[in-house]
Amino acid sequence: MANKIAFINGKGGCGKTTSIFHISGILSTRDKRVLAIDFDKQRNTSDSLLMNSEFPDSTVFDVMNGQPFEKATARALFQSRGKANPKYYGTDCLPADIRLEDESLLADVDAAHFGDMLDEFIEGQGYEWVLVDMPPSNRSLNDICFANVVDYLIVPFSSDVFSVSGYGDIMETVQRARALNPSLNILGIYLSRYMANCGVDRYIREQLLNYDTFIDVQIPHAADIREGIFYGRPINYYKERVIQSWVSENGMNNFKNDGSFIEVMKTKRSLSSPPKYLVKHIQPSIHAYERLVSEIKARIRSLR
Ligand SMILES: Nc1ncnc2c1ncn2[C@@H]1O[C@H](COP(=O)(O)OP(=O)(O)O)[C@@H](O)[C@H]1O
Ligand SMILES: [Mg+2]
Repeated sequence: MANKIAFINGKGGCGKTTSIFHISGILSTRDKRVLAIDFDKQRNTSDSLLMNSEFPDSTVFDVMNGQPFEKATARALFQSRGKANPKYYGTDCLPADIRLEDESLLADVDAAHFGDMLDEFIEGQGYEWVLVDMPPSNRSLNDICFANVVDYLIVPFSSDVFSVSGYGDIMETVQRARALNPSLNILGIYLSRYMANCGVDRYIREQLLNYDTFIDVQIPHAADIREGIFYGRPINYYKERVIQSWVSENGMNNFKNDGSFIEVMKTKRSLSSPPKYLVKHIQPSIHAYERLVSEIKARIRSLR
């Protein structure tokens, strides 16, 4: 059975799109496919995942109104380098469109039927993961999604001072969602844009440690995380290419004293699967997303 997770937060700009984009890369392989569903009319998730692909003829809105899923789903491709053909890495996207903002149009949707058709599509296509991007506030879409689409919620939290106070609002949304669908579970809340050298961010993490919903894995606020999206490449594919210059420009000083630098040099030709300790030191963004994904898997296992 596929793991279906909605990324929610009433506040825009907290890292939902960024998370879905990079997590899709970490989760998907040729035989473990991911479906990203974009319910956000701003289409950021659709635009970034389908940057190198042809946009499908229809969107998730059409599918909600009975159109076939196949015509609304496209493969996400990433451009590895120069003129190389864009590659499929196992993630498909069901894109959003502007009509999703019109709550009166959504009122006509047969949500239960949509949920059933979606499950059939997921099973037919063999998706193991379904990642759903939710807009900041759209009650009708929330209701449809929580009652008929997903089994889990996860909350990316941006580490600014206003966010901790937003925690209460988020939990209210979660309570409402669980009233609609008692089998819905919250996987947790994590810091999606964390600056380890910033006192505010560290303070917020300490506050959040008091909540058992807190996933203590911080996604660093990092250039490669933004760049990967810009170039249409999830972080685990993006880093393959830039790692060499990173090592020579920034990594030297950290490594030359402790011998691990030798290991970096030895493995740099095959950095698509470097040993764990190297991932942690020289690929901190990949390491963070991989840890987040392991934590998500562990929480799902414990809830089953
Ligand atoms: N970990 C991160 N490091 C650097 N920039 C980030 C990170 N997470 C998000 N951003 C940036 O913050 C902005 C908002 O993130 P986004 O994922 O689009 O939020 P949302 O989808 O919740 O509105 C984007 O410009 C994105 O590039
Ligand atoms: Mg977004």
